[in-house]
Amino acid sequence: MEKVSEAVGAVVRETITVTDNVTGKSLELPVFHATEGPRVADIRRLYRDMGILTYDPGFTSTASCESEITFIDGDEGVLLHRGYAIEDLAEKSDFLEVCYLLLYGSLPNAAEKADFEQTITMHTMVHEQMRTFFSGFRRDAHPMAIMVGVVGAMSAFYHDSTDIHDPHQRMVASHRLIAKMPTIAAMAYKYSIGQPFLYPRNDYSYTENFLHMTFEVPCADKPISPVLSRAMDRIFILHADHEQNASTSTVRLAGSSGANPFACIASGIASLWGPAHGGANEAVLNMLNEIGSKDRIPEYLQKAKDQNDPFRLMGFGHRVYKSYDPRAAVLKKSADEVLDELGVRHEPLLELAMELERIAQEDEYFQDRKLFPNVDFYSGIILRATGFPVSMFTVLFALARTVGWIAQWMEMIEDPVQKIGRPRQLYTGKRRRPYVPLDQR
Ligand code: ACO
Repeated sequence: MEKVSEAVGAVVRETITVTDNVTGKSLELPVFHATEGPRVADIRRLYRDMGILTYDPGFTSTASCESEITFIDGDEGVLLHRGYAIEDLAEKSDFLEVCYLLLYGSLPNAAEKADFEQTITMHTMVHEQMRTFFSGFRRDAHPMAIMVGVVGAMSAFYHDSTDIHDPHQRMVASHRLIAKMPTIAAMAYKYSIGQPFLYPRNDYSYTENFLHMTFEVPCADKPISPVLSRAMDRIFILHADHEQNASTSTVRLAGSSGANPFACIASGIASLWGPAHGGANEAVLNMLNEIGSKDRIPEYLQKAKDQNDPFRLMGFGHRVYKSYDPRAAVLKKSADEVLDELGVRHEPLLELAMELERIAQEDEYFQDRKLFPNVDFYSGIILRATGFPVSMFTVLFALARTVGWIAQWMEMIEDPVQKIGRPRQLYTGKRRRPYVPLDQR
């Protein structure tokens, strides 16, 4: 048996038979062969034909969609975007090229690259009224709170790109989001420190422009360091997409109802904010500061291992990676180099992090559970050295992940199989019972 399913592009080569031991009924389910990774059983007929739902909290065994964008092999520590290894992209590409790759499916040629850069550059300014919008926030608001609000509000400013059924409008919305995210992120930062907003500049690259709007001031020239710019660009590449993680799934779920792309990306930002997801980079630095010195590492490892203690080693563990996160490997390699070039000769937190990693890796608890450092473990150290406050770390993650969210959102809208996302449940509440009047309760 070999046919291309009518429903999805994956090849069906075999079936799996499910038998209900109560009714004796059997059902043959098609099994899709992915290009890479595990085979996927198509359970769509299970409820219709057998009246049985599947139970999978956290979606640990569920493929929620078909996707051609990103592949992760969690056992081997492999991450591919459109087939290209993250290590190659981090070393040889640049962030806007990776954006093009994720959005359009292939690397651009020179003319396509120049054209895409020009398009993005032309969208970097935000509506002037957005500047006043910021003043509604408290100065001490967390920049992620500002991001959720302002990005959601983009749908109130860019009406001409909210029709999700128009491919041109979808693409314009994608370009706007990628282009304006650094401007909004830099504004959130400037607002929090009481400095004036800076307009974007067309003569800078994407990442230089972000650093310009973040760190420059109108009253003095402060040249952008090429080392810093390259390091930042690499961090953006490493965070650009990551398959069907919590925030991406949130964007897809929000988008499945037909919500506009700006609202969908705002929902992704909200999901990313949590410490189990994008908020972990902030949590790692807070944790390292709390640990403070190498001699306290065993005490904190003990806390992490104690099932009655809610403390977890932040920046360790991953739902999919059961070996070293390849993004963490790239960052670890570049951390020393970046710090050196930034003139940070001795970074105690980096030394503490490396020692923590070393001791944890030798510990049976972490070995047994295959807990390795994830991307957040080293990113915070580099970001802090570049001058960002800890509260901005997750904002930078959101900035970089926007392209992944939008590429996945576009893929979903264009997928003929797409339906509104609507999981079912295993109900364990009360059965139907009569209403009890207030005076009889
Ligand atoms: N510290 C201590 N123990 C851990 C950690 C950790 N960081 N992570 C997992 N464990 C333990 C769990 O307690 C569990 O132990 P048990 O089997 O004895 O009950 C086992 O390892 C498996 O962990 P789960 O929680 O079942 O794994 P899950 O896939 O649900 O969670 C997660 C993954 C949320 C990333 C988790 O590892 C975690 O909380 N890590 C710290 C936060 C973090 O760094 N998040 C960033 C993720 S990467 C990203 O979003 C970019």
